[in-house]
Parts: sequence; C-alpha cells; structure tokens
Amino acid sequence: MTKSFMSFSRLVARAALVLVLAISAWTQTAPPDRPWMNTSLSPDQRAELVLQQMTLDEKISLLHGTGMVGLGPVSPLHAQSNGGAGYVVGVRRLGIPDINMSDAAYGVRSSGENGRYSTALPNNLASAASWDLKEAYAYGALIGRELRAQGYNMSLGGGVNLTREPRNGRNFEYLGEDPILAGRMVGQVMKGLQAQHVLGDLKHYALNNQESGRNAVNIIIDKRSMRETDLLAFEIGLRDSEAAGVMCSYNRLNGDYACENKYLLTDVLKNAWKFKGFVLSDWGGTHSTAKASAAGLDHEEPGEYFYGEPYKKAVESGKTSTAELNDHVHRILRSMFATGVIDDPPQKSVVDVEGGFEVAQRIAEGSMVLLKNEKALLPLDAARIRSIAVIGGHSDVGMISGGGSAQVDPPGGNVIMPPGKGATVWGKPVWFPTSPLKNIRAKAPNANVEFASGEDIPAAVALAKSSEVAVVFAYKWETEGADADSLGLPDSQDALIAAVAAANPRTVVVLETGNPVTMPWLGQVNSVLEAWFAGSRGAQALANILFGEVNPSGKLPITFPRHEADLPHLTIAKPDPKDVPDSATDPDWWTKTLEGLPSFDTHYDEGLKVGYKWYDAGNKPVLFPFGHGLSYTTYAYSNLKVQAGNPVRVSFTLANTGKRAGAEIAQVYTSLPASANEPPKRLVGWSKIQLNPGEKKDVTVEVEPGFLSIFDVDSNGWKLVPGDYGFQVGPSSQTLPLKQTVSLR
Ligand code: BGC
Repeated sequence: MTKSFMSFSRLVARAALVLVLAISAWTQTAPPDRPWMNTSLSPDQRAELVLQQMTLDEKISLLHGTGMVGLGPVSPLHAQSNGGAGYVVGVRRLGIPDINMSDAAYGVRSSGENGRYSTALPNNLASAASWDLKEAYAYGALIGRELRAQGYNMSLGGGVNLTREPRNGRNFEYLGEDPILAGRMVGQVMKGLQAQHVLGDLKHYALNNQESGRNAVNIIIDKRSMRETDLLAFEIGLRDSEAAGVMCSYNRLNGDYACENKYLLTDVLKNAWKFKGFVLSDWGGTHSTAKASAAGLDHEEPGEYFYGEPYKKAVESGKTSTAELNDHVHRILRSMFATGVIDDPPQKSVVDVEGGFEVAQRIAEGSMVLLKNEKALLPLDAARIRSIAVIGGHSDVGMISGGGSAQVDPPGGNVIMPPGKGATVWGKPVWFPTSPLKNIRAKAPNANVEFASGEDIPAAVALAKSSEVAVVFAYKWETEGADADSLGLPDSQDALIAAVAAANPRTVVVLETGNPVTMPWLGQVNSVLEAWFAGSRGAQALANILFGEVNPSGKLPITFPRHEADLPHLTIAKPDPKDVPDSATDPDWWTKTLEGLPSFDTHYDEGLKVGYKWYDAGNKPVLFPFGHGLSYTTYAYSNLKVQAGNPVRVSFTLANTGKRAGAEIAQVYTSLPASANEPPKRLVGWSKIQLNPGEKKDVTVEVEPGFLSIFDVDSNGWKLVPGDYGFQVGPSSQTLPLKQTVSLR
C-alpha cells in the first residue's frame, strides 16, 4: 500500500466515524419527525425548522394571547392556562409548548388566587438601592425558580422605566432614575431569571413614565434625549441579559403608539440593538394590525383583536407579507429555544419557602437606606434600652407592599384589610405579615416595647413621652394605574411624626414608600431609615438594622427632592375625563381603548436632565441626593488614579475608618467636555466593597467608553467627544472627595 492510499483510507475511516457519531447524537436528541429537537443546532436554526412545518393558523395562534378575565373577551382555551396574566396556545402537534406568562415584578403574582405561594422580595426600586449586581441576579433567579415551580415559563417582570416623574405610581416597580444603574441591575435580574429556563421580558418600552392617562398620553421628546436616558436603560439591560421579550408600552411616543412605533421597535430595538427576541404589547396596548406588524410588534396581549383573524386576513390579502409574519413567529420560537423552555419545561413543585425567606431578607438588609442618623441614635443598644414606643404604619402586624399587576399575594391574605384577613383586592393596599413590633420586641427582650396605632395622635404622643426612643412607621402606598398628587405622605402622618418628635427628642422614622417623599419634620427627628416595600421578611431585616446586627449599606437610586416646585413638571398632565371611558360604567371601554383614545401631549423638555442631572444642572438643593446612604461606620477615600483606555480604569483606595464592618458603595461620576453639551455629571460606574474596621482596599472600577459617550443624532450612533473628562469618586452624587481630569479621544 502506498503512503497516500493509507492516509486516504484513514481519512475515510475518520469521516465514517464522525458520521456515525453525528447520527447517534442526532437519534439521541432529535426524533426524526422533530429535527428541531436537536440541541446542537442554534436557536435560529431550530426555529426555522419548526416554522417550515407550521400552518398559517398555527403561526397566527403564536401571535396573540387568549384573553384575560376582566379585560376583554376570554377565549375558551384560556381555561387551560396556568392562571397568569397571559396565555398563548403552543403548537402541540409539533411539540411547541404553551406560553404561560405571569407578572413577576417582585415575586410571582396571583399565587394566592391560584392556591399557591410565592415569596415577596423587596420591591424593585428597593433592590436597586443595593446597587448589588450579584443580588440582582439572585433576585431574578429566585423569581425564575418560583415561576417554574408554579408552572410558568415566562415572566412579565423587568420594569425599567426611569424615574423621570417621582409621583409616577409605578416607580416602585422600576429601578430608579439613572440609566446605567437601572440597565445594569435589570440585566442581572433577567440573566438570573433566564438561567432558570424562563422567558424574561423588559418593560414598558418606552417612556411610560406616568400612569395618568397612560393609554392616551403622547410623549414628546427628542431622539438624543431618549437614547441617552430611558432607552439606554433598555439597551444595557438587553445587552447584558439577552432577555427574550420586550413589552411595548401603552403611551404614544412622538405621535405613534409605542406598540406601532417603527422608530422604537424596528430602527432602534431590532436594528440598532440587534434584539433577537420578540416584542409583546402591554395588555391592550396593540392598536392596529398592518401598521403595528410593519413597525415591529410581534405579539398582541392579552387577546386577538388585531393579531387574530384580522392578521390572517391581512396576510391572505397580501397587506402584510408572509415574510413579515414569519419573522414574528421566528422570534417567538427562537426565544423559546434559546431560553430553554422547550428543552427543559417547568415542572410544578413545592416552592422553597425557607430559601425564599433567606434571599428576601438578605436583599432587604442590603437595600434599606439610612438617610439621617444624628447623634448616632441608631443602632439601638439592645442590652441597655429600657423602653421603646413603636408607632403607626400598622407596624404591629405588617409592612405595606406595592400594588397593581406587580402585587404579590401574602400568605394568609392581607393582614389589615377590613373586614379582616384574607382578601387581596385590586386598588387596595396590601400589608404583608411581617411585624416590626414583634421583631423589635424579640431584639430587645429587656425593654418595654409598646405600640400606638397613631390614629389617636395624643395617645401616640403620650407613649412617645414615656419611652426612651420612639420609632414611627410611615407609609405611602403606590400602585399601577395612578400617580400621586404630591410627594407628601398621605393621611395625617406628617402631623403624627412632628407631634411624636416634639414629645421625644430620640425619634426614628421608618419609611415604607416606593418613591421619594417630602419630610417637613426632618429637622425634628434624629434618624430616618428608608425601608421601601420590604417584602416577606421586611421586619426581620429592619430589626437587624435598627439594632445594628446588620450595618445599613443601601444608597438612593433616586433623588429625594425638597418639594414639588423643584420638579421638572409642576403637575402631571392628565387627559380630559370625558375622553377616558370608565371601565366601571361603560361596557365598551375595552374596545374603545383598543381602538384608540384621543391623545394629549406631555413634553419632556427636561430632555437629558433626568433625576439628579436636573437638580445638578439647576443648582437646586435636594433633601437627599442620588447615591446617598449612611452607615454605622465611616469610610475614607484616597489615591485616585484614572487611566485612559478601553476600559478607562478608575482606581482608588477605600478605608473603613470606623468601628464596625460594613459595605460601601463607592460611586464614579464623570463630567463630559463642555462641547458635549451634557448635564454636569453622570454616573459611570460603582463598586460595592465590604470592609472590616480598620481595613483598606485598593479598588478599580472599569468604565466602558460607551458610558462616557453621547448619542449623535446626525451619525445615528454613540460617539466619544474628544476632550477633558472630569472623574469624581465618592459616597454619593453630591459628596465626591476624589477628582481627576483626564483627556480622552
Ligand atoms: C401592565 C403590565 C402587566 C400587564 C399584565 C398591564 O396593565 O401595564 O405591566 O404586565 O398588565 O398584567
């Protein structure tokens, strides 16, 4: 045999072996009639193989939901759903499962209603106050696990609208006012969630920053401003997580509904950002067939008013092309393959309650923000304290939660709603059974801990007078569907706090809010702790912080302004009431909404100046700045060195100069060159550093050049403006002891 023949025969033998292996892998993973079950193919290849087998009706069935009780007609198929907000019938003939969607902002919604249980995590804004990317991942992972245990394969969480308007009733579901913080946090939440093989989604795309007239409002904003603010949060979140879904919002944007807005859905999302997943409309946010489809809307929820029979007709008549239809279906299928919901469908099981408690408590402990602590009143000394007055906020039995479609059902029901325990009703505040009073008592067994509801102010004052310390709980309920009229606390809580503080010079205020609030009594109290909507284990976390077992480390993801007069908009624009059909009295309200309500304009003239950027630019003093949060220890910053490059490296030394271990969130801000025409500074990075007393660490924060760039409308892209960049490092947006200017080009 010649040498060349030998090598040829070896080649043949090798090729044969490869073929056998390939065939055996093939037969193991994919039945011959379902080649798309071959997991070695890419999600896009698998989707394409399925698509080739689908009939027109099957394709259309993936394009829409099947109705929602209370919102428009419900199809008979809806009865087969798992009880969530959305249900899409799969293609069972081809092994494509149904999509069961559940709202899952800070936990799985409607569990109680469905006879199940889920953990309530601290609300989303609270989690943003931890600035902790690992915890954000854990947040998403927990929700993902509980969704699967309850039989869901898609989450409708992932809210990331920026806090442009601090009276927006849904800010508690979002991640604050900074696009980089919000985007990076939501990216990790979605990554953690999708790792559990659950489809994720980011919402509400975009500029849905007010609830008033949300189905009618037309937001007017220029391209640069939207790309650098609200849209940037989505861009970063999608880049970091590859989330499967994006929910387009109710509002119009520059004239077109978000769900039929070509600029938003196609030009930016699908083309510029190369989003491969699918766009689903908010519930009732689809308003057309051909226009929405051409603009890039892939899926209508909750029903099939535009994407059912009308879509079929549009395809049959050639108004909408088959290629366009196929693109929508492909996106849905490829997302299902990519996320693993086809290869690893959810198996119903018992939720790990204890595991959920652990995560919820840890996140609550990392997200509460100590706003003020004069004379180091906190932490309380459990060994020495003899009497504590616990006042207000239903703190004897529970802690409040955020409402609307984010609402998680408490086990056993709402602890205070009349006529007693049990009901969780849309439009009514819900308190979770986590009792601050009980947990404070447990921490201070030698103290006399008494409760006053606060309804009777003189009684609360008398209790405060006779106690060493008064802890007043104040709340402000927030919910989908409504904005607050003011930034004030509701009811007579301001009067209660002022009266208690006047009676006892050692007063602590614990806030349970989902937005900033004004504090006319701030000068009278020693300590203020923002506990947000603290979730299933809020009171345990709170007590650990009050008594110093946990050192607070949260920092504000939103500015607390002094008063409404300092906001970019004095009031929130509202629709003419005659233009809004009343769902309680008008049987056609749903169809009228779908067909489109008369619009009214809101101009976001503040543009780039969202949150702290607004107050910075106008030199407006605030109550508490973005990034602010105290600790029971102290930190010192030194040694700043900024090294240009990709990434830019910002290095410094952080020391714990106090007597307790703690975690500091060190923040890096940058002022762009004057020619960039930007607000005074922007957050570009941060690091959360754990330090023992006396310990020092060298820290490096890597800053992506993209985070230093501006959106250039002419070239339709991001650009780094050459010039001098002022880097500043410190514990809050207004306390930045380290500064260095570096030239970048
Ligand atoms: C909300 C969405 C939610 C949907 C389904 C809508 O009213 O705006 O955030 O996911 O309902 O419950």
